[in-house]
Amino acid sequence: MYIVNIGRLCGILPADCHRLRGSEMASGMSSIENAWLHIEGAKIVDFGKMPAPEAAGGEAVDARGGMVLPAFCDSHTHIIYPRSREDEFVDKIRGLSYAEIARRGGGILNTADALASASEQSLYDSARQRAMQMIAMGTGAIEIKSGYGLDTAGELKMLRVAAALRESIPARVRITFLGAHAVARPYAGRQGDFVDMLIADMLPAVAAEGLAEYVDVFCDEGFFTPAETARILEAGARFGMRPKIHANELANSGGVQVGVAAGAISVDHLENAGDAEMALLGQSDTVATMLPGASFFSRLPYGPARRAIEAGATVALASDYNPGSSPSGDMRMVWALGCSQMLMLPEEGLAACTINGAAAMELTDSMGAISPGRDATFILTRPLPSLAYIPYAYTQPWISTMYIQGRPFES
Ligand code: NIG
Ligand code: FE
Repeated sequence: MYIVNIGRLCGILPADCHRLRGSEMASGMSSIENAWLHIEGAKIVDFGKMPAPEAAGGEAVDARGGMVLPAFCDSHTHIIYPRSREDEFVDKIRGLSYAEIARRGGGILNTADALASASEQSLYDSARQRAMQMIAMGTGAIEIKSGYGLDTAGELKMLRVAAALRESIPARVRITFLGAHAVARPYAGRQGDFVDMLIADMLPAVAAEGLAEYVDVFCDEGFFTPAETARILEAGARFGMRPKIHANELANSGGVQVGVAAGAISVDHLENAGDAEMALLGQSDTVATMLPGASFFSRLPYGPARRAIEAGATVALASDYNPGSSPSGDMRMVWALGCSQMLMLPEEGLAACTINGAAAMELTDSMGAISPGRDATFILTRPLPSLAYIPYAYTQPWISTMYIQGRPFES
């Protein structure tokens, strides 16, 4: 099948390019004005400048001057949760910080309480709805974390829901075990015992069902220490789970160092990371994932994207979709915030939301760019004046049709 009369085909990369680092983020992806795209089944075959080859024939889709972009790859979400937390939103409006709400027993523990009595089916239904909305907003790959169970049964329940979603939604899914998201209530004041239990009980149970590809820890002030994080990552590695961790959201807490030392695929958040952390990421293959939706909604500093790019890091942007700190999975907004608040160029933002997000999920063979052999998972836009117009006109409904593995997506 051919798509013809594409105003601009954006996000093109060589098939063997699997990440863009530092200055490559601005210029690594190329584009073709007035283009055609050939897809066969679920894959991209070829593309070029109009006119389209004879073979395009009569059944070509006419893009009517709209642009084509690779689908967003959202490498950090917590979309399985039982209910929203707008009560805490009001607390935040009245002046409480995310950390203060957590200290009062709200936040993650609030969701964990509700999750304990939620059925697998109800969790699946609400998470599926969120995922389908994300796809309609341009996302083609989603990482999904556990972390509201906080005991073996609850974590398994969440991970089974994630595994069911992976089978049923058209986006590609990666699954992360985040048992160390907060200390469960029964372990209040006994954090060491909770970590022991996680390593002795939760991890083996999760591994036995083969439910998670990655292991995550909320390594931060008031949550888990670098030493505890190192222990959990080491234990996860024994079960073949690679680390992707929460680091430096609330303080410069040592998370980046622990993650890089453990060979993490990504270290995520980084709102309170400094120059030393950026220098370290510039020297490593660990992706620096920043979550501007959490900064926006939770009034945190924005991640130091410019310093990360200057240091040569692989910077990804993700939504952090969760009921507390970032109740949105809209990567269009994430891209816009990356540009307007973190001073990323539109092209850098696109690379961060696509190929580098795919790198943070180890999905770059199939996702993250327009290349022959990658998935035909892309966004067809309405006619737009330029790439920069997208994060600039940040509330306009610019998506015309979402294609997932060669097929128009209908929610
Ligand atoms: O990434 N920081 C830790 N976890 C989530 C928030 C989860 C919640 O508040 O429910 C985050 O921001
Ligand atoms: Fe998170």
